[in-house]
Amino acid sequence: MGWSCVVARAVAFILMLGKISAFTSDIFAAGKSDKEILDNLLKNTRYDKRLLPPVDGVLTVNVSVLLLSLASPDESSLKYEVEFLLQQQWYDPRLRYSNQSHYDYLNAIHHHEDIWLPDTYFIMHGDFKEYSEHSRDPIIPMHFALRIYRNGTINYLMRRHLILSCQGRLNIFPFDDPLCSFALESISYEQSAITYVWKNDEDTLRKSPSLTTLNAYLIQNQTIPCPIKASWRGNYSCLRVDLIFTRDRSFYFTTVFIPGIILVTSSFITFWLEWNAVPARVMIGVTTMLNFFTTSNGFRSTLPVVSNLTAMNVWDGVCMCFIYASLLEFVCVNYVGRKRPLHNVVYRPGENPVTQPKRESTGAADLVSCTACTGPPGSCTHTANNGGVSEPCFVQVRKKEPPHPIRVAKTIDVIARITFPTAYAVFLIFFFIHYKAFS
Ligand SMILES: *[C@@H]1O[C@H](CO)[C@@H](O)[C@H](O)[C@H]1NC(C)=O
Ligand SMILES: *[C@@H]1O[C@H](CO)[C@@H](O)[C@H](O)[C@H]1NC(C)=O
Ligand SMILES: *[C@@H]1O[C@H](CO)[C@@H](O)[C@H](O)[C@H]1NC(C)=O
Ligand SMILES: *[C@@H]1O[C@H](CO)[C@@H](O)[C@H](O)[C@H]1NC(C)=O
Ligand SMILES: *[C@@H]1O[C@H](CO)[C@@H](O)[C@H](O)[C@H]1NC(C)=O
Repeated sequence: MGWSCVVARAVAFILMLGKISAFTSDIFAAGKSDKEILDNLLKNTRYDKRLLPPVDGVLTVNVSVLLLSLASPDESSLKYEVEFLLQQQWYDPRLRYSNQSHYDYLNAIHHHEDIWLPDTYFIMHGDFKEYSEHSRDPIIPMHFALRIYRNGTINYLMRRHLILSCQGRLNIFPFDDPLCSFALESISYEQSAITYVWKNDEDTLRKSPSLTTLNAYLIQNQTIPCPIKASWRGNYSCLRVDLIFTRDRSFYFTTVFIPGIILVTSSFITFWLEWNAVPARVMIGVTTMLNFFTTSNGFRSTLPVVSNLTAMNVWDGVCMCFIYASLLEFVCVNYVGRKRPLHNVVYRPGENPVTQPKRESTGAADLVSCTACTGPPGSCTHTANNGGVSEPCFVQVRKKEPPHPIRVAKTIDVIARITFPTAYAVFLIFFFIHYKAFS
């Protein structure tokens, strides 16, 4: 009797166990709501969010990035704003649920606090554009999505808006291509616990179809694991995104280089004016110089305040030198032209000052009449009242005499007409080739 009772009880117990196990597998079955499934999945007794997902070996987190918008506050800035969706996907076997459930995935957005999530943070120079409403903690995102798939895959999507301080080669500004990079790393789990990998080669960094850009011209990108030397904590898995931007060359040509060229060449107009046109030539020189200062200062106020803007300094310096030199040239010309001519040489306008010296040596006008000549040609001395010799002699002495000051002034102008534009053109060619403005 006793034995049969024990057996009956044992059978009843086994049946009960079977019922319980049937019940636990049923909680994820077809008829259940997603709320019930989630509540059961995340029950305290079943799930401990403090523990890493129990996978064989290292937990792999697949990462991908979808760019939503790129912006820069202005053309010359080294700050770029990057808005993107970061997708992280990993496998948590504790969160699998029955195949019979009619949900492909559960939306666990309200269980953000109850699920184990990788503590990914960003290594970058810059700042977060916006924080979570609830905390100033940059790890907790403001907009996110969290999905649990039937097979235990978790898909965690978050929107991020970073303001990156980028590295440009300012010595060739504005022909540099700033590089913006940021990296992802787990803040507390070492490489032996979590490994981040880029999802796969094609979709790791995608552009949203509605990507908007403002003053930001992305020309190149790469998604790589962090170089070991560059990461400051060697034992943590880390992924890096490099974005290489370029600047709008046409903007700098229309606002800096073409106005500069126009001002400098305008200052050369002065060489084609009369040597004694003081108001006109002074006005051209001073106006172009002041204008150049104003334009250059206005543009510089928008530039980053750094000292090594070599290309811009060369540009401004050389252009100012040309404008200043053309003003000084006028001062010289005017000064020379106003000098009192030696030997009362008469200036005859209309002659070409460049070909003048050749004709002077042969023309009759080159001969200066002396009252007496005692030495060899060239040592003629005026001795009109000395000894009474009044016979005039003609000696070619003009070769050694300086030309008329006005002629000198005009010659300087003619030389300047050729040398200044040539030198400036050489500078322009050198400048734009050296700084690879058109590459
Ligand atoms: C991560 O990516 C690898 C290869 O791309 C893939 O085999 C694996 O299933 C992915 N893991 C998850 C959780 O999506
Ligand atoms: C889902 O069904 C497949 C076969 O169709 C099976 O191999 C797998 O173990 C099932 N998964 C779960 C969580 O029941
Ligand atoms: C789990 O299911 C999702 C969606 O059906 C799929 O993208 C993913 O590759 C699956 N993961 C594994 C490890 O099978
Ligand atoms: C990143 O670069 C690859 C080629 O290197 C290119 O196919 C892809 O479209 C680029 N992505 C973006 C967002 O520009
Ligand atoms: C990194 O890991 C190595 C062994 O893998 C260990 O010797 C070293 O101390 C670790 N470094 C840090 C900073 O934890």
